Amino acid sequence: MTERPRLTVIGTGYLGATHAVCMAELGFEVLGLDVEEAKVTSLQSGQVPFYEPGLPELLQKNLDSGRLRFTTSYEEVGAFGDVHFLCVGTPQKKGEYAADMTYVDASFRSLVPHLRDGALVVGKSTVPAGTAERLADELARTATAKDVELAWNPEFLREGFAVEDTLTPDRLVFGIRSERAEALLRAAFGPVIDVPTPVVTCDFATAQLVKVAANAFLATKISFINAMAEVCEATHGDVTKLSEALSYDTRIGGRFLHAGLGFGGGCLPKDIRAFMARAGELGVDQALSFLKEVDAINLRRRARMVDLARESLGGSFAGSRVAVLGAAFKPNSDDIRDSPALDVASAIQSQGAAVVLYDPAAMDNAKRVHPEIGYRESAVEAGRGADIVLHLTEWKEFRTMDPSALSAVVAHKRIVDGRNALDPVLWREAGWTYRALGRP
Ligand code: UDX
Repeated sequence: MTERPRLTVIGTGYLGATHAVCMAELGFEVLGLDVEEAKVTSLQSGQVPFYEPGLPELLQKNLDSGRLRFTTSYEEVGAFGDVHFLCVGTPQKKGEYAADMTYVDASFRSLVPHLRDGALVVGKSTVPAGTAERLADELARTATAKDVELAWNPEFLREGFAVEDTLTPDRLVFGIRSERAEALLRAAFGPVIDVPTPVVTCDFATAQLVKVAANAFLATKISFINAMAEVCEATHGDVTKLSEALSYDTRIGGRFLHAGLGFGGGCLPKDIRAFMARAGELGVDQALSFLKEVDAINLRRRARMVDLARESLGGSFAGSRVAVLGAAFKPNSDDIRDSPALDVASAIQSQGAAVVLYDPAAMDNAKRVHPEIGYRESAVEAGRGADIVLHLTEWKEFRTMDPSALSAVVAHKRIVDGRNALDPVLWREAGWTYRALGRP
């Protein structure tokens, strides 16, 4: 068995690029592959093509060390690697709930003919249960190399904390069918396991399910507290106090119990939908029908935010100027996939307001998708002349903002806090009308 296997990482998006860099940081020789030449050129020259704190420094360090390289050649990857990590995306299919498996299938089929004897292919992408079994069959039928095998190792990293989550994960899950596959995976994660990090070994089906089950649980927890926010709105309760009181119950815990505009991003929304679609195919759709409600609660928060803003403006957006703080789906990210903030901003713009937005990292991405919205280079510039300010992504620079900076430039001191992350007392003392989701 290889003491320190040579690793390849196929697909250099958020997951793959981070995995490649972190495995090199842990001392492995790593070759990353992407079919997009521009991504490879960018990474090879030390540029991370997306915003992820800490990653650019580690990329440069490991390029300099000579342990990390990038290529577009499957032939090179096949010849190099003992263990190949598949990290390509599985987006939601257009017009359907199911996951689009095009990239997983294409990358797998491109890799297999080039594998060396004894290579291990490790799926990390989030996939519908049954994918690993299907790919293992295909590998057995089509590989020309001897003793090649498949394993499944789901990834749980959060954007914004991707480096930390990869170097020191909560747990490792190995879906395996042989002792040899387990031994190779243990060698590939040796430095992480030594921390120590718990390892759960299981069959393929369970390994694939752990990922979607975790995301379904997190989404449910967020929608639970957001459902409580709806009830608080009807009873004049305060969901932030409710959440705090619940959090002291150690069986419940306070994480992912933050009420606001709800979840977005490239994982939670599409993963719960793909999970429901797969459950339908498996004939157990009833088991996951609650996720439909989780999704519906989540989307209702966006509609409620639009209503609250309109109400605060006296019943109409027509002719008003709305400043939006935040475009990314969460702070410390430039990701705008299924972003609640951008969804709200564009809905308000389409209802007749002039929306002017600022985000510390996601403006370029937002401009590409929503060129109809106005963009400014700071919160104060976005706020200039605004009839209302909407706080939609809780970046630290917004959370710690001094209200007086905005007081000096807005037309009306009205703010709606879509993330329950500002201090109401501070804003009210500065003369603002402060409103928020789920609290008076
Ligand atoms: C998520 C999972 O956490 C991660 O394990 C998985 O690998 C990928 O999906 P990520 O999409 O990066 O990670 O974001 P996360 O930090 O989980 O936040 C998801 C969304 O939930 C964000 O839009 C965030 O604003 C929202 N959220 C989170 C809440 O609305 N309330 C909370 O209490 C927590």
